[in-house]
Amino acid sequence: MKIGSDEHKALFCRSFMETHRPYDPAEWPWPELDEISLARLRAVPIWTLALEVELGAGEMLGKFAKTAGDRLVRAALELQGYEEGRHGRILQCMIERYGLKVAPQVPKQIPTRGAFMDFGYNECVDSLAGFGIFRLARDARILPETLTSLFSRVLVEEARHIVFFVNWVAWDRTQRGLRGPLMHIIPVLAGYAGAIVRRIKGGAELQSRPSGAPARDLFGDLLEDLTLSKFLRACVEENERYMASFDSRLLRPRFMPALAKFALAIAETIERARAAFPRSASRPVG
Ligand SMILES: [Fe+2]
Ligand SMILES: [Fe+2]
Repeated sequence: MKIGSDEHKALFCRSFMETHRPYDPAEWPWPELDEISLARLRAVPIWTLALEVELGAGEMLGKFAKTAGDRLVRAALELQGYEEGRHGRILQCMIERYGLKVAPQVPKQIPTRGAFMDFGYNECVDSLAGFGIFRLARDARILPETLTSLFSRVLVEEARHIVFFVNWVAWDRTQRGLRGPLMHIIPVLAGYAGAIVRRIKGGAELQSRPSGAPARDLFGDLLEDLTLSKFLRACVEENERYMASFDSRLLRPRFMPALAKFALAIAETIERARAAFPRSASRPVG
């Protein structure tokens, strides 16, 4: 199958639409939470930002879909817009159910190809980190399994979104006559670089917002033995697990997993060196 062909378009659109699962988060069995779980949930600083991203994306994608000339691509983009809006509704249900404090200001985004591309590259960065964070949080039982299990379908949907996105990017470039590896690699690298910069800025902004109880009091189990290599390994392994479920003919996001593997190799080398040469206590001179 040739990337950018009609066959490719049919495959990435249809496989995306055929794996859509209908559900309504208002009907989910939201569990009762004990005090510590509630405190942990309330201390997570990202709910406002997450709600802004999901609701903003739902609206932007819904409008951008209408500009797509191809009927099948339009239907797939509309479906992604619906799923992003539904992610927003999941968060709204959780916020209401557990009394989380949020003050979202949903940004008005102009529904252009550029806005969709920025959003897609953001999702590739966020999903890789999200896969790892979710696995570590679940393993450490930070929140009850009855709650975290509800969110596992969101991660499956994000995996579907990023696979759809990278295939759409390749198809869209071919449609616009931008062929050849250089015409592909340079904008892709620029897309990822932009997304990483936006996320670093977002992280700095989050840190400047006031937070409640010290994280160490609430998340001690998770933070105690958390290392950079453990986090990166979880990201890489989980990404491979999610990506294995897609048709082998489809493209997958490659840049962020490769970057994470590279960073993991460096982190492991540093950790091995530290283990081999532990800092010895200063010896008495004699
Ligand atoms: Fe989403
Ligand atoms: Fe998404």
